Amino acid sequence: MKRVKLSLTPGIEVEFVDRELALKKVEEWAERSTRLPKVVFGPEGCGKTAWLRQSAVLLKELGFHVIYVDPLRKYFEAYTDVKEVARRLADAAAKTLGVAEIKLASLVIDLADELIRRRKRKIAILADDVFQAIGLGEAAKYVKALLGIIEYPPRSVEAIVVVVATSEGVTRREIGRHRWADLLPMWNLPKEGFKQLYDQIPGEKPSFEKVWRATGGNPHLLGELYEAKWDVGIVVDKLVERKRLAPGFTAKWRPWLEKAVEDPDALWSPDAPMELIDELEARNLIVYLLSERDSRLWAGEPPPERDAELGIGRRVAWQTPLHREAVRRALGA
Ligand SMILES: Nc1ncnc2c1ncn2[C@@H]1O[C@H](COP(=O)(O)OP(=O)(O)O)[C@@H](O)[C@H]1O
Ligand SMILES: [Mg+2]
Repeated sequence: MKRVKLSLTPGIEVEFVDRELALKKVEEWAERSTRLPKVVFGPEGCGKTAWLRQSAVLLKELGFHVIYVDPLRKYFEAYTDVKEVARRLADAAAKTLGVAEIKLASLVIDLADELIRRRKRKIAILADDVFQAIGLGEAAKYVKALLGIIEYPPRSVEAIVVVVATSEGVTRREIGRHRWADLLPMWNLPKEGFKQLYDQIPGEKPSFEKVWRATGGNPHLLGELYEAKWDVGIVVDKLVERKRLAPGFTAKWRPWLEKAVEDPDALWSPDAPMELIDELEARNLIVYLLSERDSRLWAGEPPPERDAELGIGRRVAWQTPLHREAVRRALGA
């Protein structure tokens, strides 16, 4: 398989690493089709987009007609000999801001339908961050439409693969309520894979162990750290701002936040306030209700059962140690 090139930060291009298990999963789906759309969620910056883009190439090499869209970035890739597909995607992407995103998201469904009508027998739809583009309220309906293509294709197909990725913890609840999708969590990169990425960063850098303990294997934060010249304090401050960790918030939840910073599983206790948990999930600070560490349930390597240093509990985890650090800083500790 040809490895895709990705831009980690504006100055650094990296080659796709690892994710062996997650790519194996895509191969399985290619063989057996996805009976339900696969909705993959996980920490922001853990590598969902990278994996989807690599999967697009993998599926192309397996003889699929592949449409990948990333509406928020107005980006698409079309691997098919039907020229019209790329043309219509380009038209949609060229529309004005606010229109293009929604157009791209809905167009993949029409184009998959069109490809099947044209007797293409192996079809893959990869939709990245669509829920943010169309609005969370539309997420369930969108998944239902994708399911429609799988269940009632306009002609018979040999194989169909449908995957959606999202960072939004809250969409999980919205979608989990129906049986229209198969939800699959993804975690940050495992240590060996992350090492391969770290090795691609040029110049002087802190020891691998140090970077691993700060990022917990999150590739996006590796890029941010590089940009901040490895100053952890700058990255944490930015997170505090981006997550709006203001005094009103920390004052309201101080005792619980202090417990959660020590051990995220504190939020699993029955008296932990649901309002706080929802808030931490909505701000993409924690992942709540972590699945059993059975690799069949995960897109790729599951996280460790528990890792106090990385902020991973059995059922609740900080998205990365730096996310936890941001809350700790906001608490003034
Ligand atoms: N498996 C990987 N190999 C190489 N680089 C990766 C990998 N996963 C992520 N990255 C890098 O980290 C960045 C952030 O990952 P991304 O896929 O955008 O995260 P997400 O979509 O989960 O928010 C990517 O732009 C890419 O440069
Ligand atoms: Mg992404």
